[in-house]
Amino acid sequence: MKYKRIVVAKRGPPESLRIEACDLREPAGREVRVKVLACSVCQPDVQNRYGLSPFPPKVPYEPGSAIVGTVDAAGPGAAHTVPGTRIAAWPSMGGYAEYLYLPQSRLVPVPSSLDPVEVAPLVLNYVTAYQCLHRRAKVKAGDKVLIVGASGGCGTAFLDLGRLAALKMYGLASGNKSTILTQFGAIPIDYRREDFVEVMRRAEPEGLDFIFDGMGGDYIDRALPLLRRGGVFVEYSNPGSFRGVLRLLVKVLAVNLLPNGRKLKGYGAGAALFYRKPFLQDWAILFRLLEEAKIRPVISGRFPLLEAARANALLETRQVVGNLVLVAPDHR
Ligand SMILES: NC(=O)c1ccc[n+]([C@@H]2O[C@H](COP(=O)([O-])OP(=O)(O)OC[C@H]3O[C@@H](n4cnc5c(N)ncnc54)[C@H](OP(=O)(O)O)[C@@H]3O)[C@@H](O)[C@H]2O)c1
Repeated sequence: MKYKRIVVAKRGPPESLRIEACDLREPAGREVRVKVLACSVCQPDVQNRYGLSPFPPKVPYEPGSAIVGTVDAAGPGAAHTVPGTRIAAWPSMGGYAEYLYLPQSRLVPVPSSLDPVEVAPLVLNYVTAYQCLHRRAKVKAGDKVLIVGASGGCGTAFLDLGRLAALKMYGLASGNKSTILTQFGAIPIDYRREDFVEVMRRAEPEGLDFIFDGMGGDYIDRALPLLRRGGVFVEYSNPGSFRGVLRLLVKVLAVNLLPNGRKLKGYGAGAALFYRKPFLQDWAILFRLLEEAKIRPVISGRFPLLEAARANALLETRQVVGNLVLVAPDHR
């Protein structure tokens, strides 16, 4: 039997995504065969395709890293993994596919009552926001925060979790996307038309408690002075290259050694590869919050699994609000 998956044949625009047919084989050793139900289309997928990340995968490769699926078959070394079990996985590759093979150790249990489409954004975008808010920053109710890139996949996760944590939120977004910010109780700033530094200084003259930035560039230099003494800037943007990681590390050292009373912290969800325990804890929290209807991921587009190129092209327009998800025909 054959199945279909997407391959990035060469670096570049979404047209470099190709559909290929492969043989469906039995899983070996501790491997598990997963039937993909939903897969997030995230900005890191786009950045990897252009080679704009610290460790971009070598081409050709199979993209798609934040997946929800069901166990279809388990290898002899993973016999206790029961077929039919609902799971999520990150980081993985090959999620833009009808099936993929994963080591059993990568699987994260997901309550089967949840809609896989809503779970998909929790796997990367929400866990990123949750860990920035609650592990790096340790926010508390009433804290004043600024979210840079507030309308995107991660940004709307910050808004959703920030509302739940009763934060006073300001968010930078294009003017035509301001509604989503106000829906979550945030105060939108159209950074394309207004100088957000001026706006923030007027709005919060005593300074912000936290800033969360997924955009990079000169945001650290421009926004750091908006923090009060003791405030923390959490940088979670993709540094773009290995050099970018080094530049960020130097910046973190420089800011934190200066006697300015402000801290700069970096965040990378890639840590899940080495240090899984906090991720397992936080995914379980996020799944429970979704079950209890306390969070509601913004899904602005659903595409058939194999139409990943169309979803990637849309994400690259920067017109998307929230998340795009690839969905299997029988995903429920
Ligand atoms: N550290 C981690 O582990 C981790 C995990 C996930 C994602 N990330 C990174 O986080 C970043 C955001 O990811 P995402 O999934 O939220 O992306 P996304 O869904 O594509 O959203 C990005 C949004 O940011 C806004 N934007 C673009 N340029 C901007 C600028 N100069 N200033 C302010 N806003 C700007 C755009 O909306 P407007 O039109 O409203 O400006 C855009 O739609 C990416 O760089 C990604 O690699 C890091």
